[in-house]
Amino acid sequence: MELGVAMLKSRQALSLLSTEPSSADSDAIPVDSKVASRIVDLRSDTVTKPTAEMRAAMASAEVDDDLLGVDPTVCKLQQQMAKIFGKEAGLFVPSGTMGNLMGVLVHCEVRGSEVILGSECHLHIYEQGGMSTLGGVHPRTVLNKADGTMDLQEVEAAIRPLNDDCYPTTRLICIENTHNRCGGKCISVEYTDKIGELAKWYGLKFHIDGARIFNAATALGVSPERLTRAADSISVCLSKGLAAPVGSVLVGSSEFIAKARKLRKALGGGMRQAGVIAAAGLISLRDMVGKLKDDHHHAQLLAEGLNAIAGLKVDVANVETNIVNVEVTTDSALGAEDLCEAMKERGVLSIATQGTRIRLVTHYHISNDDVQYVLACFQDTLLKTIAVHRENGI
Ligand SMILES: Cc1ncc(COP(=O)(O)O)c(C=O)c1O
Repeated sequence: MELGVAMLKSRQALSLLSTEPSSADSDAIPVDSKVASRIVDLRSDTVTKPTAEMRAAMASAEVDDDLLGVDPTVCKLQQQMAKIFGKEAGLFVPSGTMGNLMGVLVHCEVRGSEVILGSECHLHIYEQGGMSTLGGVHPRTVLNKADGTMDLQEVEAAIRPLNDDCYPTTRLICIENTHNRCGGKCISVEYTDKIGELAKWYGLKFHIDGARIFNAATALGVSPERLTRAADSISVCLSKGLAAPVGSVLVGSSEFIAKARKLRKALGGGMRQAGVIAAAGLISLRDMVGKLKDDHHHAQLLAEGLNAIAGLKVDVANVETNIVNVEVTTDSALGAEDLCEAMKERGVLSIATQGTRIRLVTHYHISNDDVQYVLACFQDTLLKTIAVHRENGI
């Protein structure tokens, strides 16, 4: 969309005329609004491309038929991941969605089971309700607080009593760490342990959607094993900040993984020479985990810089990992969607979410210089839009 059109379409255009953006130092980096001379892709950490080391490892991977359980590279990845999380076994699956689905379906093998999970969690919102359509499992949501947790008393209250025929049977509690829609917030060891205690007390299982669990462990300064000790299963993504092109690993007890392996075949997730992609996952574990702290640092810089621009608001203290949620306020010359479009013309890719919000995610392709470029682009775009508004008497 042309900047001018974006401007005219802006819902907030009229409220802006008296507002000068702050003069955050945007002049350090030249910004060319006509031609996007570079691409800075902040849509998600899922956009990461495999590293040269990953491509080399994939090309030379030793492989065999993983459906027969004999692909050596897949076996190595599963064992390494299980060890990192202190669980007995692991299972390589094509996606985080499948890892979560299998976690739920294995723990809830009996139809009419119910899962307690957060109202904002990925499993509930973005995974097509697979647990219900494919597994006959009923989701019971508890409100996610802004920090990604659920109130423990509300979780306990949501557990169904066993002595009433009207209710489904609660069998599982799920949490997400880091919490995507809550801005990449980390769920603490203490909270995770408490959910684990609750689950144990009531005879329930406990699954963690750990799509970004290494981000959480890094930010909290705790080992992944300690962070997830209380859980029965964890689905860990390799294809987010860890930059592998494909795959997640589900970890848990040997008995749980044996059931999951059987189910994976039914879901169409059994792969043959999967070592080709598992090889990239091994490089993720070797090379990428240690780099996540840089992504978090870049997210901090981005958050602080954006918060200093008039019309944009970021809860900087709440940026704990690699996700930055930017509120586009009524002082902004453009609404969230139009601002995203205008930034796209400058090669800065982001996603407008929830009406007034833009989500930016840092990852290993994003450098310090990219962050400065992005800040300059936001500042310049908003300033120029105000100038155009003035010229047109809007
Ligand atoms: C928190 C969370 N869980 C699960 C998933 C699903 O992963 P996949 O896209 O590999 O299915 C995502 C994807 O972005 C996610 O952010």
